[in-house]
Formats: sequence, structure tokens, C-alpha cells
Amino acid sequence: MITELITPVRSKAQLTALKLVTKLIPSPTPNLLLGTESRLRLVEHMAHFGFKRVLLVTDDVLFGLGVIDPVSERLNALGIESVVYSGVTPDPGFSVVEEGLNMLHQNGCDAVLAIGGGSSIDAAKVMALAATNHKTPQELMGVLKARKPSLPLFVIPTTAGTGSEATIGAVIADETTHVKNLLIDPKVVPLAAALDPEIMAGMPKSVTADTGIDALTHCLESWVSDFSTPETEFHSGAGIKLVFKHLEKACENGQDYEARSAMALAANYGGLALNKTGLGYVHAIAHQLGTQYGVPHGRANAIVLPHILEVNRHSAQTRLAALARLCDLATDTDADALATDKLIQRVNALLAALPIAREVAGINERHFTTMAQAAMKEAHGTYAVPKYLNKKEIIQVLRTISEQTA
Ligand SMILES: NC(=O)c1ccc[n+]([C@@H]2O[C@H](COP(=O)([O-])OP(=O)(O)OC[C@H]3O[C@@H](n4cnc5c(N)ncnc54)[C@H](O)[C@@H]3O)[C@@H](O)[C@H]2O)c1
Ligand SMILES: [Fe+2]
Repeated sequence: MITELITPVRSKAQLTALKLVTKLIPSPTPNLLLGTESRLRLVEHMAHFGFKRVLLVTDDVLFGLGVIDPVSERLNALGIESVVYSGVTPDPGFSVVEEGLNMLHQNGCDAVLAIGGGSSIDAAKVMALAATNHKTPQELMGVLKARKPSLPLFVIPTTAGTGSEATIGAVIADETTHVKNLLIDPKVVPLAAALDPEIMAGMPKSVTADTGIDALTHCLESWVSDFSTPETEFHSGAGIKLVFKHLEKACENGQDYEARSAMALAANYGGLALNKTGLGYVHAIAHQLGTQYGVPHGRANAIVLPHILEVNRHSAQTRLAALARLCDLATDTDADALATDKLIQRVNALLAALPIAREVAGINERHFTTMAQAAMKEAHGTYAVPKYLNKKEIIQVLRTISEQTA
């Protein structure tokens, strides 16, 4: 993930150097609480720190649904005041972080608790970091820009996708340029996170499907990355198996807590894996669909994924075949080509079974050159992908997406 911000490099030697740098950046892990009501146990855990006033960061939708109420009630019962900032927007911009930060300072908050999807978590990460460092949110973007630890940060994810509760990154958009900025710093990893299926029960089917495919994509891109290690494979492989087994169930019945818990864990594993390996072309191209046409992050991944799997069918055949066998989709006697085909078919069948909107409103060939250039800038040499694509090949992917969604 660190690699995303570094000047594009192409040689094997430079990738090896980057791999070393990535390994040297520590990835602390949050204290993880699991299961129903773990969000309330998280609050009890927070009470041991002696906080007086906590900034609760969420979005308007979740606030309106009353999702945060049991948590703020438990905080109050334990003598901790809560101040609510509910202005987070999808793919939050700097103004969101600044508003929340002002509220934090005005109220003298001594801790931050994010309740929401990746958007709320990322905004809260940057608020907590900016609160203790004499830098603006903009100045904190980049790699290791903060000197001091962040304000104590706690997280309750309400989606199962980004795995942001486990990552050393945060994504904040520049509202004027529409460019997504990445912050990389182990100081943004929360002290503790609760993966509570109950808080995810009301997540709409489409958000469940979109975010679940985000988790799957993190794991798949990590699995085929040249930076993968036995440790990242452990997490990405387990995450993929969990998604195959549970995502459809979580979509069909939001109250299926076993499926919800499994998906929350899959997302967490994806976050742990991508911390060390970075991502790939699915994300590099999906980010362009997000910034250019406002396609939600997970849905954009779902639209791009089949096309990059086709690219990787040959270039990552050994890796994908090994994954097929790990997931019991192929046997040891199947040839790699057949095993890879079975894996790709499984992913495509899952995508077809999910309620994911495939339309990209406004998609237009005249944007493709700029989009392809931006995707190349993100991916080339900085993601350790099995095969690098040229501009023409990326434009062809965009063209196929456009034809299929027309
Ligand atoms: N920091 C990281 O490592 C990392 C990794 C991947 C993506 N991201 C970022 O995360 C953001 C996307 O996060 P996301 O996909 O979780 O979506 P999100 O946080 O933007 O939420 C999407 C929508 O779903 C609603 N929602 C969320 N949980 C709900 C629930 N339980 N019930 C009802 N509605 C619910 C929200 O109100 C919102 O309208 C993007 O900005 C992306 O860039 C960060
Ligand atoms: Fe993602």
C-alpha cells in the first residue's frame, strides 16, 4: 500500500527495493473484538482509558437510522460524554475532515470513535491524526508525514469491505481536483475495533454486495501480488474462502449473523493483506470509475474485476491455480489452466448472483485516455502486478466495460 504514493518505477530492482521499504513499515493491528454486541464491549474497553469526551464520527444515513444510539447511550452510562459529527459523505473530502476536526477541538474531545463504513473510518483516522500533529489534513497526506501518535482512535465498521479498521491508510478526496489522496502511516491504525454483525444487519443488499466484492478484490489482488508473503497469503486466502462461502448468504438475509461476522472478518483479512502487498489494476481502474463517474468503490471493483481476471488468467496462472485448490474448486490433478478457469468461473458466478448494478452512467470514450493515464500512474511499477498493461490495453478494458454497460 505504501507503494501507491511513490514515483512510478518499472525495474525489477526498484520493485525489490520497494518491497523492502514496505516490509520495514510496521503494521500494528488493532485489538479486535468479535461477535454480537462487541460494539458495546468496545465502549466498556474504552472506559478503562478514562476518557472524558469522545468525538463520534459517522454519516447522516447511519445517524438517521439510529445506528449509533446504543453506543452513545452506553458511553453516557459509563460517564463518557459523546459529541457527534455526522457529516461524513461517501469518499469524504478535506472539508469533512476539517469540520470534524473543528468540532473535536471546540469540544475538547480526548478520543475519536468512528462508526461507519470506510468513508467514516478514513475521515476519523485523519481527524485523530491531525488533532495531535500541528499539520493540516492536506499536509498529512503522503507517507509517514505525522510525527506524533494520533488521538486514541476506536472503530466500529458498519460495512464489510474496506478493512480500513486494519489498514495503515486513509483515502481523502480533494473536492476541487477530485483527486483521491492517500495517507500512509501506522499511527492511523485504531487501538481497538469491534466487528459486530448486529450493526451490519440493516446494511442494504446492494451495499452488502458492493462492499463484499471490495473485500474479495483486496484479497485477490494481494494473492497475485509479487509482494505476497506466506503471512499475506494466509490472510488473503482465508478472506477469499470466507467471501465464497458467506457473501451471498449475507446478501440474502442481512440478519444472518454468522454470514455477517464471516464477511467482517474477510474484510479485515483483506486489510491486513493489502497493508503489505498493495493492490492492482482492478483498483487502479475502479478508482477512475469512482472519480470520473461517481461509481461507489466496491461496485466499481465488481465491474472491473472480470476483465483483470482475464488478463491474469495467463500471467498469474500458477498463483490462481493454487488459489483454486486452496478453495477446493480444483484438485491436485487438474492442470493449472483448468484450475485457473474454475477459479475465474467461481468469481464470475458469484458476481452474477449478487445484486450489483453494472451501469456506469455517463461513461464515454472521450474520457478514456485520461482515465487510462491515471490508472497507469497509480499502477505502474508501484503495484507489484503479475502483468503491466499499456495505455491501449487499459483503454480496451474501459471500452469493453462501456459496451457491456450500455
Ligand atoms: N483506508 C483504507 O484502507 C481503505 C481501503 C479501501 C477503501 N477505502 C475507502 O473507503 C470508502 C468506501 O467505504 P465503504 O465502501 O465502506 O462505503 P461508505 O462508508 O461510503 O458507505 C456507503 C454507504 O452505505 C451506507 N451504510 C454503511 N453501513 C451501513 C449499514 N450498516 N446500514 C445501512 N447503511 C449503511 C452509508 O451510509 C453510505 O451511504 C472509500 O472512500 C474508499 O476510498 C479505504
Ligand atoms: Fe478497495
